[in-house]
Amino acid sequence: MKVYIKTYGCQMNERDSNALGAALLQRGYELTDNEKEADILLFNTCSVREQAELKAIGKVGILKKLKKVRPHILIGMLGCMAQSKGNTLLEKLPHLDFVIGTDQLQKLPDIIEMELAKREQLSFTETNTDISQSMAQHLETNSVSDFIAIMRGCDMFCSYCIVPYVRGREKSREIAEIADEAKKLADKGIKEIMLLGQNVSAFGLEQNSKTRPSESPFADLLREINSIKGIERVRFISPHPFFFNDKLINTIAECEKVCNNIHLPLQSGSNRILKLMNRRYDSAMYMEIVKKLKKIVPDITFSTDVIVAFPGETDEDFNCTRNIMNEVGFDNAYIFKYSPREGTPAAKYQDQIPQHIKEERNQILLADLKERTTEHNKLMEDRIFKILVEGPSQRNPERWCGRTTNNKVTVFDYNQSLKTGDIIEVHIDRSSSMTLFGSILNH
Ligand code: SAH
Ligand code: SF4
Ligand code: F3S
Repeated sequence: MKVYIKTYGCQMNERDSNALGAALLQRGYELTDNEKEADILLFNTCSVREQAELKAIGKVGILKKLKKVRPHILIGMLGCMAQSKGNTLLEKLPHLDFVIGTDQLQKLPDIIEMELAKREQLSFTETNTDISQSMAQHLETNSVSDFIAIMRGCDMFCSYCIVPYVRGREKSREIAEIADEAKKLADKGIKEIMLLGQNVSAFGLEQNSKTRPSESPFADLLREINSIKGIERVRFISPHPFFFNDKLINTIAECEKVCNNIHLPLQSGSNRILKLMNRRYDSAMYMEIVKKLKKIVPDITFSTDVIVAFPGETDEDFNCTRNIMNEVGFDNAYIFKYSPREGTPAAKYQDQIPQHIKEERNQILLADLKERTTEHNKLMEDRIFKILVEGPSQRNPERWCGRTTNNKVTVFDYNQSLKTGDIIEVHIDRSSSMTLFGSILNH
């Protein structure tokens, strides 16, 4: 039987879908990228913005026709929106067979068997605190990198965010178990590990710490992964600035495999808005982390998440965001227009901002960002960087591409001795706002 899995949302969902795919293969199912030939269609959903929800609901909605022609197929919705809207989805989409929330995903193979035996709409959305091995399987891949989920859930309750409601309480895995997973990936030829969590800098800490901790179990984890033979690069998303302390900053500088590109969500540059967002840092604290890292980590680059037009955001607040973004000089930024999420405090705040202002502020930040990245990429010209080779470039398969440690996509001519996973030295000849173009040295 063939299974099609479509994933919406963040890397955490990608990781979950990957683990579920591997579990289904083990049970004798086949995976397919072609939904038309699938017997079982699964949609791993996201609730973080309204757009993400509408996309998945729209997609499953139009499958009603397919089910008329092929009544034997099973359709399931999984993950974050299944968690928050489970029964509503089943009512709204009568051709939907089952919903499985974020804490019950590991039961998917059993649930499919149950559904195949007796076809009725079922919902599995109970919460569960056990996050041991069950979701640690990986699909085989030709890629040089893979994800490891080091924790699940989030306890931060930022006032705009639905994640704590759909992913439940923060739970960290054991360092030894994570290291074991990383070693297995290294044995299969994976060179780069991306450690995933909604709040990785709080990994392994006591819950709900009111004061900024001086310890950092996450730093200990980085050291452990840094020591694994075969792993060449370690990246992570997303750390929260509140837990990004000196111990973590120094560990990043000391661990040679931990990459000099940090994704540090800013959300806003206005202290007034940061407070309303319940982010637990101000712009000065954020800049202090950036400055310390810039001082001790050579060629470091930063990326971020920003929300424009949070309720009540004035021109002045927006300009604070614009200024701090230019001051940091991000090399990438995910800029989101605020989307009210039912059940979160900010959805009830007065002064929701009209759509045209959301649009305008979004465009301004995107234009600034492009200017900054063009400038930064120019500064990388005529220098030599180590590139982890990924494979043929999408635009032109006669050229190959890879990344610098600070996460710049770099394109170079193919030569016959090149293999995916090689680390090569490349001289940067020219650049654009998105890409570096270079020549390979001695390979
Ligand atoms: N845990 C991560 C992010 C998870 S959600 C962190 O704290 O950085 C990914 C991003 O979506 C957030 O960083 C935020 O910028 C954005 N986001 C979350 N809720 C949103 C909302 N209601 N409207 C618009 N963007 C939102
Ligand atoms: Fe959402 Fe905040 Fe948790 Fe990130 S830290 S997932 S933005 S509540
Ligand atoms: Fe979306 Fe869930 Fe990730 S809400 S952003 S898929 S944690």
